Amino acid sequence: SQAASSLLQVCEPSGYSDDECAAMDWDNLGFGLIPTDYMYSMKCYDDQIFEQGQLSRYGKIELSPSAGGLFEGLKAYRKENGQLVLFHPDQNAIRMQIGAKRMCMPYPSTDQFIDAVKQTTLANKRWVPPPGKGSLYIRPLLMGSGPILGLAPAPECTFLVFASPVGNYFKEGLAPLNLYVESEFHRATHGGAGGVKTISNYAPVLKALSRAKSRGFSDVLYLDAVNKKYVEEVSSCNIFVVNGNVISTPPTNGTILAGVTRESIIEIACDYGYQVEERRIPVDELLDAEEVFCTGTAVVVAPVGSITYQDRRIEFKTGAQSVCSELYSTLVGIQTGLIKDKKGWTIEI
Ligand code: COI
Repeated sequence: SQAASSLLQVCEPSGYSDDECAAMDWDNLGFGLIPTDYMYSMKCYDDQIFEQGQLSRYGKIELSPSAGGLFEGLKAYRKENGQLVLFHPDQNAIRMQIGAKRMCMPYPSTDQFIDAVKQTTLANKRWVPPPGKGSLYIRPLLMGSGPILGLAPAPECTFLVFASPVGNYFKEGLAPLNLYVESEFHRATHGGAGGVKTISNYAPVLKALSRAKSRGFSDVLYLDAVNKKYVEEVSSCNIFVVNGNVISTPPTNGTILAGVTRESIIEIACDYGYQVEERRIPVDELLDAEEVFCTGTAVVVAPVGSITYQDRRIEFKTGAQSVCSELYSTLVGIQTGLIKDKKGWTIEI
């Protein structure tokens, strides 16, 4: 375009004409990155329309710290006495390390990770909500930030931590969720990265999730990609099924994210005397389930009121007398300091 050629004229290093090739060894051209002079960029926001783009010198770009990559999520709470507490940051550090190994990335040590989380939380202390009003969601993020053209681990990685005060994840608040069982799309396959907390684990759900939301559902429950039969997880959280004294949840076999809240709920449920089974759950079993609930850092412990599967809507028990409610109260009690933490899950900072 005219705009581009006039920019080229203005910016072209003196002594070169447009028609000359750059001075370099053209006989030994491989597939490594050789930075050229210009790049083009344009942005698209919520309206889905790309605005007028422009050429600029090839160089570093500005990126929101909250742009995705390999990421973690944990929360800080403000106790009644004003003390700030972090929930299980070591577990998030370890999960990031496991994910980084899978993605061929360097990773911070557990001490470096926790120190960064503590510093970020304390620096943003005024954003930790008052007791009972929510929490500070902390997002440690690891991303390849160095230049590369071929397929290989990034030559430079950046670890950063940012935080945001949050309330309930679902617009339903604490009201029961209505889930939709997805039959067309899958979120993960064996040998893939479904068990890694990376954006590639979440991007595949967006299509099914937006479709389900437009039909009034809270979230989507995915089935295994091989048999299309076994319950895996929800876009944003893990899932549990309750029948009498038995609580079942799918095993984290590589296609399911090993949730820190999932693990904590399994432990709390065992302490209460429930029999917890990690096993494959055929979707048909939901027809007979008494209760279903979801767990996740963002979601916490959320009751499921209904699941729609192949045009059939199945309803479940919810409310104050439910197992979900009992487990939710205990977990949140420990997280917020209302219940003494005998497990060493919380860190005061
Ligand atoms: C979390 O629970 O921490 C997550 O990262 C889930 C995401 C959908 C917000």
